[in-house]
Order: sequence, then C-alpha cells, then structure tokens
Amino acid sequence: MTLKKNILALRQKKAIVEKGGGDKAIEKQVAMGKMTARERILGLLDANSFYEYDLFVEHEETNFGMENKVLAGDGVITGTGNINGAPVCIYAQDFTVMGGSLGLKHARKITKIMDHAMKMKVPCIGINDSGGARIQEGIGALAGYGEIFYRNTMASGVIPQISVILGPCAGGAVYSPALTDFVFVVENISKMFITGPNVIESVLGEKISQEDLGGARVHAEITGNAHFYALTEKECLNQIKELVSLIPHSNQVKAVKVKPMKPSSRKNIEKIIPSDPKQPYDVRDVIFALADDSKFLEVQELWAPNIVIGFGRMNGDTVGFVANQPMYLAGVLDCDASDKAARFIRFCDAFNIPIITLEDMPGYLPGVDQEHAGVIRHGAKMLYAYSEATVPKITVILRKAYGGGYIAMNSRHLGADFMFAWPGAEIAVMGPEGAANIIFRKEIMEAEDEDAMRQQKVKEYIEKFANPFVAAAKGYIDAVIEPSETRELLLHSLGVSQHKDDYRPAKKHGIPPF
Ligand code: HXC
Repeated sequence: MTLKKNILALRQKKAIVEKGGGDKAIEKQVAMGKMTARERILGLLDANSFYEYDLFVEHEETNFGMENKVLAGDGVITGTGNINGAPVCIYAQDFTVMGGSLGLKHARKITKIMDHAMKMKVPCIGINDSGGARIQEGIGALAGYGEIFYRNTMASGVIPQISVILGPCAGGAVYSPALTDFVFVVENISKMFITGPNVIESVLGEKISQEDLGGARVHAEITGNAHFYALTEKECLNQIKELVSLIPHSNQVKAVKVKPMKPSSRKNIEKIIPSDPKQPYDVRDVIFALADDSKFLEVQELWAPNIVIGFGRMNGDTVGFVANQPMYLAGVLDCDASDKAARFIRFCDAFNIPIITLEDMPGYLPGVDQEHAGVIRHGAKMLYAYSEATVPKITVILRKAYGGGYIAMNSRHLGADFMFAWPGAEIAVMGPEGAANIIFRKEIMEAEDEDAMRQQKVKEYIEKFANPFVAAAKGYIDAVIEPSETRELLLHSLGVSQHKDDYRPAKKHGIPPF
C-alpha cells in the first residue's frame, strides 16, 4: 500500500472509533440532554488543541460474550490539550460505549493519562459518565478502580485534580471524585451514589429517585461532595475554565499572574458593615471591595454558607479567601463550615496560594446536634489546617471574633503572618451579653432593676474587652486599621511575604483529625 492509502485507511479507522457507541447510542445520549464525551472534551479545551491517546486500545475480556464485542476506545477518551493556552491532561468516559462502564483496559487508559499528568506537572481533569465497574470483567474492573484511587492519592497536593460528574457515577466509582480537589455537577445530569435506588428499595424498602438520592443539588447543598454547581453542561465547562485559569498547574509553580486591576465594586467598604452589631450583611461585598476587578470565584457556594471560600486575585496574583458569612447563622463555625474551610486551606497551602481570612463570627454553634455530630473533631480540622499552612496567612477582623472561633480563624496564635482589625472589632472570650450574665450574675440578681443592671454591665464589658485595643496592646494584632486602608495593607503584606520561608519540624506526615 502506498502511504496515501495507508493514511486514508487510518482516517477511516479513526472515524469509526471516534463514533463511540454508534448513532443509536449517541441519539439516546442526546435525548437524555447530555453532550457526548468527545463534545465535552472539545467544548472544554482551546480550539484545535486536543491530541488523543490510545484511541485503538481494546479490551481483552472473553467471558459473557465479550469476546465478540468491539468497544470503541474501550469506553473512555483520553489525551492532552490546552485551557487558555496552558496544557492539561483529560479523560472523558463515553456512556455510548457500554454505558461508559469501566473495565481493566478502560482503567489503564485513565491511569496512563494520570501518570502523564503527574510527570508533566499539569492538571488532570476527569469527566465521569459511567455505569460503574464493567460487570462482565469482575475483578479486572475492581483492580482498575483501585489503581485509579491510588494515583488520585499520589497526585493529591502535586497537581490539581478536577472531577466532572456528567452522568451516573455509582458504586465505588464515586471515590475517585471524592479523592480529587474539585467536583463539578450539573442539574438533572449528575447522579452520584454508593448504592442506587434499586438496592436501597430491596434492602431497606425505601423508594427514592436517583435525583433525590444523589443529584446535583444534593451534592452541592447537602453532602458538600460537589464544589461547583451548574444548570447546564456549557455553564459547567465555563466554570472549569475559570477555575483552571486561577489555580497553579502544579505545586511547583505559581498561578499565572494577570494584569493587576483595582476593585470595580461600587460599594463603599466603610459602609458594608451595619452600625448595629447584630445586623447581618453579605461578607462577599467585602471581598468584592478588596479583590482585583471585584472578581471572586466562590467554591462550595451552596454548602455550609455560613463560611465563604474561594479564589480571587490581588495585584494580579491568585489568593484564597476564607470569610465568615454573617448572613447565615450569624457566621458561626460548625461541623460543615470547619470541614469546608479546612480542606480549602490545605488546597491553598499545597499549591502556594496565600490565604486572606476575613473574620466576623460569634464562635462555634452550640447545641447537642453539633456536639453529637462531632464538632470537636471537625472543628479541630480547621485549627490543624491553619497551623500547618506555611503560605502567607493574613487575617482581618471585621467585627466579632469570639472564643474558640477567634483562635480558629487564623489567629496570631496559629501562626498568622499579619493580623489586622477594623476599629469596630470585638475580640473577646464570648459575646458581651453572655459574658455579663456569667461574670456579673450576682450583681444582676441582687439589683432592684435586673435589666438596667444587666445593660450597665454589658456596656462595661464592651468598653473594657469587646474592642480591638486589648489585643492590639498585647501585640496579638499588628494594627487597628480603617476599612478603606485594607486593600493597600493586604497588597503590602502579600508583597512582604513573597519569599516567606517557614520552618516545620521534619516528619513523615502529620495526623490531622480526619
Ligand atoms: C456493564 C453496563 C454497566 C455495567 C451499564 N451498562 N452499566 N454494562 N457493566 N456496570 C450497559 C447496559 O447494559 C447497556 O448496554 C448500556 O450500558 C447502557 O445502559 P442502560 O442501562 O441502557 O442505560 P440507562 O437506562 O441510562 O441506565 C444507566 C444506569 C444503569 C443507571 C447506570 O445502566 C445501571 O444501573 N447500570 C448498572 C450500575 C451498577 O450497578 N454498576 C456496578 C456498580 S458496582 P446495552 O448493550 O443494552 O446498550 C461498582 C463497584 C466498583 O461500580 C467498586 C470500586 C471500588
């Protein structure tokens, strides 16, 4: 055969495999409101940047009629391409090929691209759309999952790992996304659970739909398994692009610096916090007033909204924000908020992203529910994460900083590099009312007018302790600043800490309160 003929034959062979499961299966995929695996990859990557690997890999299973089955690409597309000009490794399970089920060769294509991502030090993006372990392959499929989980763990903290759930992700398959850094879900399309509705019905006699069991909103709002929620696949792909442009591509480089911009928010930072300390406000307005171009990519927006986490830029460089949200539960810390913040802090620390903490919370949420849910163990994760982090750590106390929460929210005592407080900050063991009721109980009970005495004692307590100056006098905060000075001081602090080098004792690894 001439070279020309060979090229033609190659093209024909490629065209057949690129069709995945064929027209009928593709029709079914489209009817479910889903893009095909190939469309997803091409929609996410820069135009003409995708290069596919292992298109002609075939399964080797011979049981249960598999010997005669040809599975295009063994049900998964893998390769490399660019997002905003930067290389990434990617795989997408193809549901049109035997339900995207995972056999050994399918898994080996995935582990090969994961190994490649680790070696090349680029992010790895996995698009999940699969019926899980390929039942016909048995142990081969289980081995494949295990090999993926092992690599997810090895890559953790080395390269960013992103999971996109665009179809079923059932059984043990859910543990790969759970081991990665960011999970994206889409309304009506994502379905994630360990045991499906059929099993639940047969074992427990309970009827539940796939959506109610493990749909997109369930994971975005209730379980916290998802970090980004979108209404459409297109919106989801845009969210991924935005995230990838903000985070470093490995733990050995910094995020790409962009042109510095001033905040564009029209809100006056001096006026965001209401004068009544009991009134809530949206802490994101403070972030908008501080971040370049007032841009903020919020992570886990719908879960544990009493704490806000996400990425923005300061002077063109990526920073992570952790902020109490007085709009929800007065911004208290609880089990979920602690888990949410702790994991984000560890991501920032692993990938050299400075952390800016904005504090306004009345402490940990009291109650039997929280105690029995393990608020001691969960709350400790946050202390651990902040203490362990060696990236630049800056805290601004906006208003309330009470009790254990004061310590947990990146206090000087946990190693904050810069501590600032606004003039209205209240730094105390607990809120003035609670404190006055305890320490002046006798005087209040013996007074003729208990209420008047209580008010007087609360006032005395506020004047004496609920202000930033006691902490400032002890050097626990570095400066009491005007809100309008905050951005300049943050920029200055980030500049000073560019070459921060923090000592940590040698150890194999710590033992965080997982
Ligand atoms: C082999 C599978 C498959 C699987 C789907 N298919 N899942 N083949 N192994 N796990 C095939 C179907 O037989 C069908 O083939 C095609 O894919 C499309 O599937 P449908 O059922 O027609 O699609 P749909 O109606 O959309 O239903 C999707 C589904 C359902 C809900 C995912 O297919 C399903 O329940 N699959 C089984 C899920 C499951 O129990 N997986 C094992 C989990 S255990 P044809 O030829 O008819 O087109 C597990 C353990 C991992 O994963 C442990 C790791 C630690």
